[in-house]
This record gives sequence, C-alpha cells and structure tokens, in this order.
Amino acid sequence: MKHIQCLASLLTLLIMTSCSDNETVVNVIPMPQEVQIHKGRFCFEQTSFILDEHMDQASLSYVQKFEELLHLKGMQGGTASSANFIVDNSFGPEEYSIDSREGSLEVKASALNGFVYAIQTLKQLLPAEIWSDSKAEKLEIPALHIHDWPRFDYRGLMLDVARHIFSIQDLHRYIDLMEIHKLNRLHLHLTDDQGWRVEIKSHPKLTEIGAWRKGTMIGNDFSSDDGIPYGGYYTKEELKELVSYAASKGISIVPEIDLPGHTQAIVAAYPHLGCTGGPYEVRTTWGVSDDVLCAGNEKSYKMLEDILTELMEIFPSEYIHIGGDECPKVRWEQCPKCQAKIKELGLRDDEHFSAEDYLQSYAMNRIETFLNAHGRKIIAWDEVLEGNISQSATIMSWRGAAGGIKAAQSGRDAIMAPNSCMYFTHCQSKNRDAEPLAVGGYVPVNKVYDYEPYDSKMSEAECAHIAGVQACLWTEHIQDFSLIEYLVLPRLDALSEVQWCEAQNKDWNRFRTSLWHMKDIYDQLGCNYATHIFDGRMDEDQKPIPPIKHKALGCQARLLTEPHLNYHYNAPYELFDGQKGDSSFSSGKWIGFEGNDLDVVFKMGNKSFESVGIETLTDIGNYIMSPTWLKVYVSEDGENFSLLASDEYEADGPESKNGIRRHSLSFSKPQRSKYLRVQAGTIDSLPAWHTGHGAKAFLFVDEIIVL
Ligand code: ACM
Ligand code: ZN
Repeated sequence: MKHIQCLASLLTLLIMTSCSDNETVVNVIPMPQEVQIHKGRFCFEQTSFILDEHMDQASLSYVQKFEELLHLKGMQGGTASSANFIVDNSFGPEEYSIDSREGSLEVKASALNGFVYAIQTLKQLLPAEIWSDSKAEKLEIPALHIHDWPRFDYRGLMLDVARHIFSIQDLHRYIDLMEIHKLNRLHLHLTDDQGWRVEIKSHPKLTEIGAWRKGTMIGNDFSSDDGIPYGGYYTKEELKELVSYAASKGISIVPEIDLPGHTQAIVAAYPHLGCTGGPYEVRTTWGVSDDVLCAGNEKSYKMLEDILTELMEIFPSEYIHIGGDECPKVRWEQCPKCQAKIKELGLRDDEHFSAEDYLQSYAMNRIETFLNAHGRKIIAWDEVLEGNISQSATIMSWRGAAGGIKAAQSGRDAIMAPNSCMYFTHCQSKNRDAEPLAVGGYVPVNKVYDYEPYDSKMSEAECAHIAGVQACLWTEHIQDFSLIEYLVLPRLDALSEVQWCEAQNKDWNRFRTSLWHMKDIYDQLGCNYATHIFDGRMDEDQKPIPPIKHKALGCQARLLTEPHLNYHYNAPYELFDGQKGDSSFSSGKWIGFEGNDLDVVFKMGNKSFESVGIETLTDIGNYIMSPTWLKVYVSEDGENFSLLASDEYEADGPESKNGIRRHSLSFSKPQRSKYLRVQAGTIDSLPAWHTGHGAKAFLFVDEIIVL
C-alpha cells in the first residue's frame, strides 16, 4: 500500500504547489506525505470536541489533553465549530488524516500512534505559543487535507545513560522532543564499562558496585582522572514510570544491555564472571575494555537470564538490544573456561573468523533463544555479523552502512544508524574549537538530511529488510541535558524526515524554511538548540575546500590492497581528487586500511615529477596511527616496478598528537615514468601503552600528492 501511495503523494505535492492559497505555508516537520491546502481557515473557537466512542483509553487521554491545552490557551467551548476525532479501522496503526475547513475539523486514525501524529501536526500548524505559557494570538489552522503515514516502522533515537546518567525529568524532555518529531523508539544504552544503570533485584551488586566509578578521565586525556566519584542508577519503579510516560506518546523504550563486551562494570561487581577473576573496577576512562564477561562460564548465562527476566518485567518492548559491539577476544583466548567451551562446541578458526568470534555468536544466539522464548526479538550492533549470528537477529548498523546492507542482503532486518551521519555526538561545525568537545567527525544538519537508507546496491526485496533509521547520542563528553539538546536540535528535525518522509517528499529548501518555525517552537520550549543553520555559519562550513592542484589529479588508478569495508568510500579515486580530508575520520574523505598497507598503482602517462607525498590522519583514540614507512616505485609496463625512494618514520607514542600529516619523498632531479606505485604502512597492532593494545591499527590516507 505504501508504494502505491508514493506516486499519489508526489502528485499531491505538485497539486499543492500549483493551486494552493499562495499565502499559506505548511511548516510541518516531518513533512506529511500528502497535503492539499484549501481556501479558508479552521479556528478553535467555541469548539466542541467530539470523540469517537470506540476510541481506546490511551488515545482518548491523549486527545483530551490536547483539548485541555486549547482551553488553557483560550479556546471556549460551544457549538460554532466542531473537532471530530474518528476511529477508522481501515487506517494502519501509525496513519492518520486531517480535514479542516470553516467550522469543522475531522481527524481520523485507528490507534494511539495515528492520533499522536495527527495532534503533533495540528500543534505545528498552530502558533508556536501553543508550546509555552505565552498567550497565542489566534488558534487557527489553514483549511486543508492531510493524509500521512511513516516511511519506516522503526524511528529511533538512542541515549547513552551509562557514561553519564540523566534524571528521569531529563528523559521525559528527551521523549517530548521525540514526540514532536513522530519518533517511536527510544533506545536506552543502560550499561557499559563505566556504569550499570538499572536496578536488578536478583543481582544487587550490579548497582551497589557497578553503578559507581572512582573518577573520570578529563577530556581526551586517557592518562588523566578527575578523582571525583561518579554514578547512579534508575530504580525499577522509575523506569516503569518512564516506560508508561513514553507509551502514552506512542513511544516504546528499547533497553540495551551491552554484551558480552562493554561489561567491565558487571565483572567489577561479580569478578568471578570475568575470565581472570579480577579484581576489576568500574572503568574510569572511555574506549574499549579487554575485560569482558567470560563466555565459557555457565554462571554468566544464568546471571544474564536472571537480569533479562527482570528487564523484561520493566520493559514490554518487542525488541531487547543485547549490544554485541567492540568485544576484544584477548581474555577469551587465554581463558581455560572459554577455551573449554570452544572445544565443547567444536568451534574453529576458519578463513573468515576466529573460534572466539564464533564463541561470541554462540553467546548472542543463546541469549536470543532465551528472549525469543519470552516473546521478544533482539537487536544487536553490526559486529555480530562476524561469526554466525542467527537469521532472526535485527542488525543495527553503526560502522557506516555496510553492516546494514550486508544484513539486508543476507535476509536479516536492519536498522541503519551509520556513524558517518547518525552519530549526533559528532561535531556540527568544522570549527571544532568553537564547539563542545565531541567524538569523531563532522555531521551538520544537511548531512543527516541527505542520508538515504536504501543503498543503490540493494534489491527491492533487500530494501524491505530496512526496518528503520536511528540516531545515537553517546555521552562520554556530555554531563548535562542542555548539551544533549544542543547536539540533538535541530539534527533531530533532519532525522525525522529521513525516518518519516518518502524519499521523493524530501526537499532541503522546503525543510530549511520550515525549520524557522521549529526554531520558534524551540524558543517557546526554552530549548538549547544549535544555531549554525539559522545564523549562516553552516553555509560557511559548506563551502567546498579549495582543491589542491597536483600532477596525479584524476588519474587512472587501481588498489592492490583492500581498504576496510566501512572506510572504502570512493577508493581509489578519493586519493586523487584534489580534496583533502579534515580531522574527521568518518567524513568520507579518508580511505581507511585496517591491519594492511596502502598499495596503489596509478598511471602518470610520462608526466615529470619531483616529489610524491601522502596525507594521512592520526586519531589515536580511534586506533588510527601515523604511517611508519613510505615507498615509491616506478614502472613502464604497470607490472614490473623498481623502487625509486623510501623512508621510515617514528611510530606514535603516548605523547603523540592527533592531526593531519604529510609525508613526502623528493628527488634531486625530475623523474618521468608511465606508472607510479605508492605503498605506505603503519604498525600492525596497537602498542602496549594504547587502550586498544593488541588490536589491529588503522592507516587513514587521503590525497596522494605528486608535484
Ligand atoms: C558503538 O558505537 N560502539 C555501537
Ligand atoms: Zn572466559
């Protein structure tokens, strides 16, 4: 049905622009699928509300609250006009329609979510003062017809309450912002190395010990510690209240217990469940811990079942998120219990994955079976594709879109949350010094807006596996809620159109204009939103970086080593496009190699040159290390190469700084050859001083500059 509606909605938008009342603009975000504007207005004035007797209790309460709000704003009761809220069971659960004209308003939906979205649309059509205690001029909306439904079923926003915890009041406000934008899933990242945040009666030490850390690293300095004890957790009662608050707005809370990695807080509380037996403490630095839950110990599974049983009591959500990301295997490799489990299960290294990767799949699948038996489905981060995760797991793609594409191609459902545009922790400006401390890259509003979840590589059947889109907010550097608002607004507006609007209904210029009305709403609500798009700073950021001119620009090239799947982007052409990468590794400008070298051949066509250089990115916290060597070869046939020059560079140390580096090899006289080959590499694995020690190192390269 959705697909049939696509064409109809396109036509409707065309009609809307050709015969609408010229002065009437519909500033609604996300833009409804079908809008027709008529002449005239509907005014909430001496209005009687008529609520369908078949309406369910939740919808009834929601509509009644809207009526009360209008009364507070000065609407009189009476018979001059009517607002009719009708249950129409031919509508899907999230579909609604609005028909307004002089004296009459008619809203149709079949269930709570449809009524919520209809009322949110009505509120956005009303003056912005509806959102505050201020007096509204006139409670009127244009005469119009709207028929609306979401493109994607799963429209999520994540909040990490493990790194920093936020009050229930703050969480209410987060939910309110989601409600305005018609989102329906709040993903709460409840547990991590740095803190366990949910009361579990059967395992009280999870909160007595696991919810508290002795201190916190300062900024990005892994050797620092502010020495200030930090912690807290939510009681079951608090969370149940939160669940019902969200449910009253059509929002389901998806709880995440991150397993089997990111579990240092669990083993701090119950050291016998770690592979070494500890002692452990709740982690005070960010990054990834080697100390993970022992997957060979039956007691781990028993505890997880107890935890999940209590979690299901709090959260009725159809989905439970069980993490699965960033689980180092170094402890499992050395642990007698884990190795015995591997043997018992007959797991082996193969050409794709290690026995320990398969052990993780075993653990995830076992937990899934338990949750399925209780009527729940699992979501897990895309790392779980490394092994043999079940077909019924829903994959949350965060390391770019590759994991989601792979999941869909293998017949699994996927939720797209690529860090390249859906991590709202990333900076909103290239002028990073003027921004709050952020993780990773550059994600302005338009980058969020431009995201299209259906990849051109995917068939229609594979696209049907994309359940939805989510943005994530990690809180390593966020301690207070006003900063959350700053990071979320107005990127949430862009997200909502990616989640809600059929692709052909998205329109950056219309969106950008409507955003001014959202700004008024945010002002009324007293939100701390980012202003780049309103004060022109974003346009400055958007100016293309001046290309650098060099002799290999646009040349033919082939790569002899494969970049990492998530950082392949437009390789190898990205390396010769004259556009330099910035300080963000995930901007799409950098080509990333994990555990292998750059090796590229390109055709110089006999142009003379005097130096060959590469630009690389160093981002040590993200495992991206400086090159330790560079070699340049020449060839006349593109097959047989002779070494022209090489150099070695000092490896990064604990004091090394992040940034962009250029390494060049210069020649005493001009050289000429048909083909050039450039190789560069870095250390194989991260050194002992690095928090990720033992893991493979990345080399990130952008431009190869031939002068
Ligand atoms: C993640 O960002 N580690 C899911
Ligand atoms: Zn173990």
